Amino acid sequence: MSTEPSPGPAASSDPAETGYRSQPVSFVRRGSRLQGRRQQAWDELSDLFVIDVPRVRADTSVDPGYVFDAEAAFGRKAPLVVEIGSGLGEAVVHAAGEDPDRNYLAVEVYRPGLAHTLQRIGQRGLTNVRVVQANAPEVLGTMLPAASVEELWLFFPDPWHKTKHHKRRLVKPGFDELAARVLVPGGLWRLATDWSDYAVQMREVLEASAGFVNLHAGERAGADSPLTRVHAEGLEGREPSDDADTRGGWAPRFEGRILTSFENKAHQAGRLIFDLTFRRL
Ligand SMILES: C[S@@+](CC[C@H](N)C(=O)[O-])C[C@H]1O[C@@H](n2cnc3c(N)ncnc32)[C@H](O)[C@@H]1O
Repeated sequence: MSTEPSPGPAASSDPAETGYRSQPVSFVRRGSRLQGRRQQAWDELSDLFVIDVPRVRADTSVDPGYVFDAEAAFGRKAPLVVEIGSGLGEAVVHAAGEDPDRNYLAVEVYRPGLAHTLQRIGQRGLTNVRVVQANAPEVLGTMLPAASVEELWLFFPDPWHKTKHHKRRLVKPGFDELAARVLVPGGLWRLATDWSDYAVQMREVLEASAGFVNLHAGERAGADSPLTRVHAEGLEGREPSDDADTRGGWAPRFEGRILTSFENKAHQAGRLIFDLTFRRL
């Protein structure tokens, strides 16, 4: 790519998040106070596992001049997997435990979620996970060196349902360029969502992207498509319709993604899961 994409997403109503970012952020600020075991995990483990980044202003910002040195942070050279919006750390910690030869970086804005992730890291005695409290577009736009990530994961990003809030979604035109910047050629971007219209948006943005190819283009179309099922069965509060998804492009469930409590709630609510996998060209 000839130009460096803007780290973008902001326009939050929160004064701490406004005034310096060019676009709306994909999150609302939640309490960052820690208590009990989370506070204890933070006190005991943050020096070892939390990446301390210089900020511009808000505590989720990243100074654009800062560049992450993975080899120094992990104390070794190994392929890097980055999970954006890692929540409570269930997926990233499980994967890191199963895959000790790769380094894992969890990116999350919610400090209690990161503290919970530290708890899990401590319980499992892992050494190949680091966490950072930061806004993902800034991490992808400037913090991570170009072509430094082997896999990028984005599982169940906040859906921002209302049309007027779609600008807050992480996956929208332009975000693909940030992801493409950090992935090595041939690297994978794995995504999952439990909301069909966000799944369709992801498919549109990434299939239109010059930097990516859909590893499962055309697969699971028609009656095999979860989108067809959402329409036929009237899921997500829709009126049932015979609107078939002829395009497909949905990946099989990524077996490295464990069932998180978040995904479990989606199943219980009767929603279907859409997986997508794209390869960096
Ligand atoms: C719906 S939760 C899903 C959590 C986790 N991936 C899972 O599947 O259980 C979305 C997470 O993304 C985080 N998030 C939202 N916008 C973010 C951003 N711009 N940068 C980093 N994390 C973000 C939220 O704080 C939240 O924890």
